[in-house]
Amino acid sequence: MSFTVAIDGPAAAGKGTISKAVARHFGFAHLDTGLLYRAVGKRVLDGEDAVAAARSLRAEDLEVLGLRTPKVAQAASKVAVEPEVREALVDFQRAFAARAGGAVLDGRDIGTVICPEAAVKLFVTASPEVRAVRRHKELLETGHDAGYDSVLADVRARDERDRTRATAPLKPADDAVTIDTSHMTIEAAVAAAVAVVNKVRGA
Ligand code: CDP
Ligand code: CDP
Repeated sequence: MSFTVAIDGPAAAGKGTISKAVARHFGFAHLDTGLLYRAVGKRVLDGEDAVAAARSLRAEDLEVLGLRTPKVAQAASKVAVEPEVREALVDFQRAFAARAGGAVLDGRDIGTVICPEAAVKLFVTASPEVRAVRRHKELLETGHDAGYDSVLADVRARDERDRTRATAPLKPADDAVTIDTSHMTIEAAVAAAVAVVNKVRGA
């Protein structure tokens, strides 16, 4: 039986951290759909056409090192504006969501477009400043020397592009539960998400 948990929200809100923990807790599979757009963005930076890259994307492309850089993130949010790129990635995401045993997908449009029938929809958010502090720390830890101001500008630029695009803009689904992690520890945010899933599973 399939059971889909859709987790959407802006950059560095804690989607991935919560998704991984929820997947581990319930034994569900997890797909970080941002990696699909990052993989396409990376191939565009390498000179390929965005739509062709999206149509020929393979699971192995998601393992490529270097997908988590700010440059690739910007390229991802640019290709993510194109309806044909998004369309080419739909089947893969829906097939993943429908797998037996449960699945958690995190991204921008999972609850609104990819899985409008998901059993659980969460919208994970935090203030831009808090998100920039977190992403800045993460980048420093992984050896990227980006300044806080440039990380904040990157986060704001991507949020703006993601929220205002015509196709599948970033916004909470009408029936999503919002978790604002600005003043939450990771443990508290994960507990809040697990509680929402448990409530639905028990219903
Ligand atoms: O997936 P998304 O870009 O939304 O965010 P993430 O990669 O899960 O989280 C970004 C960073 O914020 C990670 O380094 C997390 O450890 C950290 N984080 C945090 O400090 N407090 C939280 N409540 C959630 C995440
Ligand atoms: O980890 P972070 O939240 O910073 O970014 P990501 O989830 O890896 O997503 C990178 C970019 O891909 C986003 O800024 C979006 O433009 C795009 N994206 C999207 O349009 N739809 C999704 N379901 C996931 C990502």
